[in-house]
Amino acid sequence: MNKLNPEAEKLNTIIKESKPTIYRLLSEKGKSIYFPKKGLLSQGSEAKGKKINATIGMAVEDDGMPMRLPSMANIVPLDPKDVFPYAPSCGIPDLRKTWQKMIREKNPSLKGKISLPVVTNGLSHGLSMVGYLFIDPGDKLVVTNILWENYTLIFEYGCRARFRPFNTFKNGRFDTESLKNTLAEEEGKQIILLNFPHNPTGYTLTDVEADRVVDIIRESAEQENEIVAITDDAYFGLAYKTGICKESLFSKLADLHENVLAIKIDGATKEDYAWGFRLGFVTYASKEISEETCRALEDKTAGAIRGNISSASHLSQSLLLKAITSDTYKDEKVEKYNILKRRFDKVQKVLFNDEKNYSTYFSALPYNSGYFMCLKLREGLNAEKIRQTLLNKHSTGVIAVGNLLRIAFSSVAEGDIPTLFENIYDACKNEYAEAS
Ligand SMILES: Cc1ncc(COP(=O)(O)O)c(C=O)c1O
Repeated sequence: MNKLNPEAEKLNTIIKESKPTIYRLLSEKGKSIYFPKKGLLSQGSEAKGKKINATIGMAVEDDGMPMRLPSMANIVPLDPKDVFPYAPSCGIPDLRKTWQKMIREKNPSLKGKISLPVVTNGLSHGLSMVGYLFIDPGDKLVVTNILWENYTLIFEYGCRARFRPFNTFKNGRFDTESLKNTLAEEEGKQIILLNFPHNPTGYTLTDVEADRVVDIIRESAEQENEIVAITDDAYFGLAYKTGICKESLFSKLADLHENVLAIKIDGATKEDYAWGFRLGFVTYASKEISEETCRALEDKTAGAIRGNISSASHLSQSLLLKAITSDTYKDEKVEKYNILKRRFDKVQKVLFNDEKNYSTYFSALPYNSGYFMCLKLREGLNAEKIRQTLLNKHSTGVIAVGNLLRIAFSSVAEGDIPTLFENIYDACKNEYAEAS
């Protein structure tokens, strides 16, 4: 490893002295990264408001406003200062503070200190940055064996981690025992990635299962394992059934044990229906974490971002801030939630009534939240073939994941849901008849 920069050493010392566990959990890259306090951006921000500012690599008009092309400025109804200049690498301060306040509002049982969220270029980028900071090549990542395919790109190929998959469901429930057994297989550093509502299955833990998962992580921490517990909350807020977790698991992990560093990944992408904004957040918590350690982790994250994309879009951040502080935001969210909930209810109804005997050919994996649900096909049916038939003969698109079909009911009008399942049924029936 290259010799550490004194600024990285300073951050490491802060972390090591108050939270040696977190220091040990950092990757080699995580230990060496820092946000340059005396670098271009910091020197530039110190010169802000000075009569003459010849610091930063941007151009200004003679009146000091950001230089801009009217063809762009005229179509964005925001103050040019909130659009055209670079945003800070860690994100614009008001957005970070507002998002932090919202995390607390949405997760009322969350106790203890949490860091200010650091803004990333979408959640995938947030996950990559967490990989940068906490995963060394060869480190292992505990994940469900049914998972979002981008985890493979981010963690297996991007970070050179190896997956330690545990079984997702057993007898229609989340397989907490498999999580427990998988964790128990190794000692020392443990990295766990949990995603609810889950992609691709659309599953959220019941309250009872969530308590069990948290107990398992606590027990592992009590056995002196040191744990990075990452919650990917991309689909937060879309829980459609009673008795399932309405809060993020982060609430329960944040203050769980000295040996647990909880990291929350969330953002506007799915939660606020702003996929193209590319805005995510990384937030840290650990039992009795100090303000200084939070700042040091934020600085390291900002350093990783600076060396990677430099900063996320200022325009997107300003738009999101305006939206989430608007009077109508909460009502608008309820309205969209209700649309998705009605689609979810329709899927349940169509499958429950099962007038056509859909269960001859497929059955649903547990689902209760989010954007998706998955169908398990009966033996002898090939998901990719069914997908092709649906495309070519029924003008219907679904995703084949191994031998599952992932159905994004979030993107199908309620009125089309019965036809969607009829089409799947017909494709399965024909395929089965041909195969046998
Ligand atoms: C589970 C999960 N996490 C993260 C993301 C990534 O979100 P983003 O588009 O903000 O990178 C997705 C997107 O599909 C997802 O399904």
